[in-house]
Amino acid sequence: MKQTLKNMYIKDKRVLVRCDLNVPIKGGNVLDTTKIEKSLKTIKYLLENNCKVIIMSHLGRIKTEEDKKENSLLPVKNVLSNLLNTEVKFASDILSEETKNMALNLQPKEILLLENTRFLDIPNKLESNLNEETAQKLASLGEVFVQDAFASLHRAHTSVVGIPKYLPNCLGFLVEEELNMLNDNLLNPEVPFTVIVGGAKVDDKLEIIKSLIPKCNHLLVSGGIANSFLASLGLNVGTSLRTTNLKTIEELKTLMLNYKEKFAFPLDAVVETTYNEKPTLKNINKIEDNDIIKDIGSKTTAKYSKIINESKTIFINGTMGIYEENAYKNGTMEIFNALKNTSGKVIIGGGDTISAMNSLGFKSDFKYVSSGGGATLEYLAKKTLPGIEAISEEDNIETLDL
Ligand code: 3PG
Repeated sequence: MKQTLKNMYIKDKRVLVRCDLNVPIKGGNVLDTTKIEKSLKTIKYLLENNCKVIIMSHLGRIKTEEDKKENSLLPVKNVLSNLLNTEVKFASDILSEETKNMALNLQPKEILLLENTRFLDIPNKLESNLNEETAQKLASLGEVFVQDAFASLHRAHTSVVGIPKYLPNCLGFLVEEELNMLNDNLLNPEVPFTVIVGGAKVDDKLEIIKSLIPKCNHLLVSGGIANSFLASLGLNVGTSLRTTNLKTIEELKTLMLNYKEKFAFPLDAVVETTYNEKPTLKNINKIEDNDIIKDIGSKTTAKYSKIINESKTIFINGTMGIYEENAYKNGTMEIFNALKNTSGKVIIGGGDTISAMNSLGFKSDFKYVSSGGGATLEYLAKKTLPGIEAISEEDNIETLDL
């Protein structure tokens, strides 16, 4: 058993909390606040216990200096401040002396949000490539570390697995609740067990699919994942999102041969073409060089809905297409409808999937909603995650000054 927040002495302490506040933001506006809301329970508990609270999170993917412009946590600070009805201080230069002073001078019940931890990746990947020196510097801002970033637990990054080496640590309420929910519903799922995987994080998810496929009865794929499988079979997917990693492509072929009966692939797609202004429905073997696959077509929707109906447990991570564009939201809508109407148990997982669920009008239709997509898939496959492993066992916690 890992150490939990309820069993940790945190009263009056300076507590560093790793949250996952990786939310969709456009033009400075937070489009979906679910992940922020899910983080509140732990934060409020710390405030009730007179803690000085320092919150950290990543946001998006930071590969260039330019990426920083769109991925600041400042808009999140404003939402957090409104939800908590209190001021939230903000530190834009995470490792600076100024930030350290802000942290050390926090008063009980005050909150400091640090800028996106992935800004540390420019130029030396100090966040994404676990860096001990950076972990120590971050740890020096707090006296206790609380891991509450469920959706990030599959990342062996500095702020996830590095910091707990240098501070007394525990799991936060969100992580505990999410793990209990997954253990109850997905570790020994009622069969047939169907997993639906879509979305844009292709290379990440393909690795996980390899370990997951033996554990499910059906694997339904869409988006960049489906395109990668289809392309590895030699089908033309035009200029659609897919992996270009040759080793992965070879592995995909082998996987499909070994587990043919489990995979369900799109039969048709709605594509953007260079010669037709309107979205065009095409059979999957008729995609042309410049086409971009943006949604699944009606035959695929029918096929996937039938499998969903016949399943006892269904986990979905990812959307069927670019649901944000009106013309390409139908596949995702129809699959949510099938999930809503099935008698099987449905578990929704992942920030993008939750945003789609909320914005397409299914907000209150599902009981089991996990903030983790990649994290949940990896947990299902491996039954543990790097971010959990990094937390101390209940017994090993040093006695704190009670
Ligand atoms: C997520 O939304 O899946 C998590 O925040 C992790 O984000 P990442 O895939 O960019 O690491």
